[in-house]
Amino acid sequence: MIVNIYGLGFVGLTTSLALANKNIKVVGYDNDQNKIEKLKNKKIPFYEKNLNQILKKQLNKNFALNKKKINQSFDINFICVGTQDSKKSELANTKSLVNCIKTILNEKNKFKKKIIIIRSSTPPLTTEKIILPLIKKSKKKNIEIAYFPEFLAEGKAWKDFHNAKRIVVGIQKKETKKIISNIFKDFKFNILFTNLRTSEFIKYLTNSFLSTMISFSNEYRDIAIALKNINIKEAFKVFQSDPRWFSKNNNFNYYTFPGCGYGGSCLPKDINSIIETSIKYGNYEPKILKQVTKYNKNIFSTISKNINKEIKNKSDPIGILGLSFKPETDDVRGSPSAIIIKHLKMNGYKNLIAHDPKAINNFASSYPNLKIKYENNLDKILQGSKKLILITSWNIYKKKISGNLKTKIIDLRYFL
Ligand SMILES: NC(=O)c1ccc[n+]([C@@H]2O[C@H](COP(=O)([O-])OP(=O)(O)OC[C@H]3O[C@@H](n4cnc5c(N)ncnc54)[C@H](O)[C@@H]3O)[C@@H](O)[C@H]2O)c1
Repeated sequence: MIVNIYGLGFVGLTTSLALANKNIKVVGYDNDQNKIEKLKNKKIPFYEKNLNQILKKQLNKNFALNKKKINQSFDINFICVGTQDSKKSELANTKSLVNCIKTILNEKNKFKKKIIIIRSSTPPLTTEKIILPLIKKSKKKNIEIAYFPEFLAEGKAWKDFHNAKRIVVGIQKKETKKIISNIFKDFKFNILFTNLRTSEFIKYLTNSFLSTMISFSNEYRDIAIALKNINIKEAFKVFQSDPRWFSKNNNFNYYTFPGCGYGGSCLPKDINSIIETSIKYGNYEPKILKQVTKYNKNIFSTISKNINKEIKNKSDPIGILGLSFKPETDDVRGSPSAIIIKHLKMNGYKNLIAHDPKAINNFASSYPNLKIKYENNLDKILQGSKKLILITSWNIYKKKISGNLKTKIIDLRYFL
């Protein structure tokens, strides 16, 4: 098996040398001749730890440069060209990617099958909207596309590549799974296979989260400066030592998962109060935090629109699963269930029946105006409802709701 790698920057060269180091024959291509010359002279064209010694070991052994392809049953191509815009527009530029794919499509060699594995970061839908039409237009048959995003960070590329733990690859056909699994069989990471769009989405989900965390921390620094006499370094170090970063259970995963927005008696009060305090005493208006509260307020109209799409008959008995603001408590202050039920009633749903393992009494007395029916018997509500809406992720729901329950469940927590 020979693997071809296009683009020998941080991602492409690391991928090439990592594979070569596992005894896979790799041919690297780059259209920057200077880069190729340096590599031929066993010099890495940029600074990155570990790569130089592996290059010295693998060049002309398992790693070759700009070599003519020879026929084998599969033509395997990794594309690692840059998608950074040379005009620094701060938008992904797919020009090099498109050019590279055109080069591969125009090759005259007769392979039974070509696999093109994109490693360059491209926005979701790039493969479907740009790459697949390109392949269709070429009228070439037996070409498979996969999207395999890279998560390494410069400065520790080699380490990150090997310690990835899990990698995600978007594929079109199951057959590609075998080939990719085989290439990476000697690496210790798990490969999660998904569809093209989801794999592209995961890369952007990750990087947008990281960007948001950075801006969030910087905005909080600005609030601290405005409020004066706050030890910023100390505050952030204590924040970073929160056990939720490190614990297996009860960790920050709970907060980085979609659901029904934040509620309860603390988070809404505290975020609104810091915005007010910052304006009042620091004359500084936090921009990100204001957007956070605005988004959280509007989340319920989006949720109820999505529910409306799923339920056709508003007179049907609809079961509400969960009333407390989170599982394992009977606290209903700021409960998303109350707001969602209110929206559903405003939208004309007449037959709502709610269940909660612990919070029915608290909920009924806290929200008497909602005027809905309550049911303590979970089996009854599961059997008697036309549709179910899961709002609080109590474990009992997971235990009781088996695969053979026919009733459609709108799972607002992606829990089941
Ligand atoms: N650098 C990172 O830390 C990092 C991490 C994860 C993902 N990524 C993504 O991976 C991709 C590559 O990043 P990089 O930092 O390695 O880029 P880079 O600019 O260091 O390297 C890209 C290489 O591709 C070559 N190239 C361009 N067009 C080509 C073509 N048609 N044929 C052959 N070679 C061609 C360029 O000459 C260049 O050497 C980008 O989409 C980037 O966003 C980068």
